[in-house]
Amino acid sequence: VHHQGVPSLLERIATTMSGAIGRVRADLAGADPVVRRSERADFQCNAPLALAKRVGVKPRDLAADVVARLDLDADPVLASVEPSGPGFLNVTVTDRAVWAQVAARLADPRLGVGEPELGRKVVVDYSAPNIAKEMHVGHLRTTIIGDSLARVIGFLGADVLRQNHLGDFGTQFGMLIQYLDEHPDAAWHQDELGAGTSAVSALDGLYRAARAEFDADAGFADRARSRVVALQSGDPATVAVWQDIVAESERSFTAIYDRLGVLLTPEDSVGESFYNPMLADTVEELVEAGLAVESDGALVFYSQEVTGPEGRPVTLMVRKRDGGYGYDTTDLATIRYRLRELKATRLVYVTDSRQALHFQLVFEAARRAGWLTDGAGAEHAAYGTILGPDGTPFKTRSGGTVRLMDLLDDAVSRARAVVEEKNPDLDPAELDRIAESAGIAAVKYADLSTSRVKDYAFDVDRMVSFTGNTGVYLQYAHARISSILRLAGDPDVTVDPTVAPHPAERELALVLDGFGAVVTEVAATLEPHRLCGYLYELARAYTAFYDHCPVLKADEPVRGNRLALCRLTARTLGHGLGLLGITAPERM
Ligand code: ARG
Repeated sequence: VHHQGVPSLLERIATTMSGAIGRVRADLAGADPVVRRSERADFQCNAPLALAKRVGVKPRDLAADVVARLDLDADPVLASVEPSGPGFLNVTVTDRAVWAQVAARLADPRLGVGEPELGRKVVVDYSAPNIAKEMHVGHLRTTIIGDSLARVIGFLGADVLRQNHLGDFGTQFGMLIQYLDEHPDAAWHQDELGAGTSAVSALDGLYRAARAEFDADAGFADRARSRVVALQSGDPATVAVWQDIVAESERSFTAIYDRLGVLLTPEDSVGESFYNPMLADTVEELVEAGLAVESDGALVFYSQEVTGPEGRPVTLMVRKRDGGYGYDTTDLATIRYRLRELKATRLVYVTDSRQALHFQLVFEAARRAGWLTDGAGAEHAAYGTILGPDGTPFKTRSGGTVRLMDLLDDAVSRARAVVEEKNPDLDPAELDRIAESAGIAAVKYADLSTSRVKDYAFDVDRMVSFTGNTGVYLQYAHARISSILRLAGDPDVTVDPTVAPHPAERELALVLDGFGAVVTEVAATLEPHRLCGYLYELARAYTAFYDHCPVLKADEPVRGNRLALCRLTARTLGHGLGLLGITAPERM
């Protein structure tokens, strides 16, 4: 069943204002009433200012006419609507509406958020590390951002298909398999390795050794090349080793995914190799449509939309001169499959912004081939680079790539120090548990809270801080409210709508009312930092409320109303963090 949700106060005001505007001027019916939260009143409606010019009247006159068309006595939400400034309307809502809204959201397991995405099928392509290689800092953002987007879009009702487009195919595996064949003693299965190292780390090293031997030994190079052919033609023994490498790599990735608390499981792995059987067909279809044309013995796709430097054409490589297929071809077959076979209505690709041109061309080709039609959309959720403290790309002290596991270990150990300082009496097991959750939260939140397209500097000390806009601060805010709720006991609270709210209560209630809107906005823009900003604002509104309004010591019915605000804040923070893929422990 479609869950409609609880319309927010802002939505209800917008509907009312839009109706009044349409009654004043039929030619403005349906126009955006531009209702926003405001500093001066609860809300502000900017429509008169925004629309007056369009119909040739003065904004102030339009504002006055709109007010005249409202029936405040009959409206359960509007307490007063007053023209102000050059043509704004200051809107104040009734006390009753404020409390009724708190009660309605609290009574709903979805906190009043509807399911507008029901019936849509959305592919979120994220993480996508390469087999036999260790996950490093470069895979962090796609994994974290993609996971949050999958959660948000899924919460809004869409059928989300998480797709881990693993780099599991390529000539390098032929070389690696040949090397493993000639070095049967080389240990790389996880059960042969100590706990401190991973199968992918061992394979990474063996691949390097294979590469060196390939360069140094012509005999090995020949045998490695035959092995590539054997792999591509499906030689059973070769394929078996390849499958073993894939499976073992996936186990290493799963260890990272579990630790990060992301949703990806092996069922979500649909690697590049999955599309191999579709490559030839895809290419043929592009050739027939005249979209893949010969160039220097290769087949290429020429963009009509993008031109390179000095007017040079920009192309996708559809088939290489040697007849081989690469990354471009695989993505063409992939998008075709996702649209035609999976019948996805929206495709989201989460990779760093250096792949922007690649996806622009893949989308253009898909449109021109008729795969991507008006009923569907494809978006590249591009993100910036993680920089070191010095502002250059993040490296280890010796200049190497930072392993993801090391980065997480470091964040957790710093979080441990901060938590221990704040709470020296914690028993060690509890401290470990909290440090792990805080450290992971710190890393994820720091990433999600910066605008996706921007680069950001990885600053662990700032990330694990209990103050400022950090994941740890939000987790702590949630834990503090949880402890008040524990002290209060009875989870059944009744809201008395006749109580006049304190300004801090009112503010908190109105911030809480904005939850659904921000979640919808994240799904539309693919920008989780908006949700982070919202949760931070919520935590601060709660702090201001808590400073002014005693909860447990208050008398009924005020106490019940305040507990309702506490409970709704805790649930909204917990749920919001959950949509970011961040845990919200009850104690910290
Ligand atoms: N494995 C690729 C990389 O490491 C990312 C794949 C992204 N997804 C895609 N459909 N191309 O860069």
